[in-house]
Amino acid sequence: MAHLISPSALSADFGNLERDIRMLNESQSDWVHCDVMDGNFVPNISFGIPVLEAIKKASTKPLDVHLMIEDPGRYLELFKKAGADILTVHQEAVIHLDRVLHAIRDLGMKAGVALNPGTPVESLREVIHLCDLVLIMSVNPGFGGQKFIPQACAKILRLKKLMAEMGSDALIEVDGGVNEETGSKLVEAGADVLVAGSWVFNSPDPKARIATLKEINPNTFRV
Ligand code: DX5
Ligand code: ZN
Repeated sequence: MAHLISPSALSADFGNLERDIRMLNESQSDWVHCDVMDGNFVPNISFGIPVLEAIKKASTKPLDVHLMIEDPGRYLELFKKAGADILTVHQEAVIHLDRVLHAIRDLGMKAGVALNPGTPVESLREVIHLCDLVLIMSVNPGFGGQKFIPQACAKILRLKKLMAEMGSDALIEVDGGVNEETGSKLVEAGADVLVAGSWVFNSPDPKARIATLKEINPNTFRV
């Protein structure tokens, strides 16, 4: 499967949100990545339900919602109603991960689990069969524009091994510090979905940046 691109709306211009989402509609992006932060799980506050609803209204692409919030199990229905298609919770923020992943699927959404850079892939062994997606964080979550943590590539390989052992076909998504160079390394390591915020939006031509990420060929790029 060719890899997917999920530009992060966190780096959009919120004064012109509809314009930026329509730009994504016309781009080669596959999903729209929406970062919800509660100022508790991460040291930053981003946006919540009303903004997600506005994105949903303007978007023709699936919403890939990344919850950086404590105890996300309390809000699953709200995020479903707001338009989430893929709902990703952090392993570190959930006590009853098995229950929460079942609940996300029962609501008709794809279920994802995100791992902070300090969290091993092994922590997913007992729930990997309930994951439609695993999100490997290649920065410490909370802010756009941070530097890529290169260990993410080896982590993809360890996750692939675990998935093969457990018979999982979850998608592997990577988030943080993604640009043409790091994105190429990630696709080569086996990433299925690239999230990119600042590298896409802090450019005079975001559509061209999305196309660049989409056109990465894992077989021809070597660094
Ligand atoms: C960070 C968020 C990311 C963020 C990525 O906590 O989860 O999705 O938007 O931004 P860049 O691509 O600028 O690192
Ligand atoms: Zn994110």
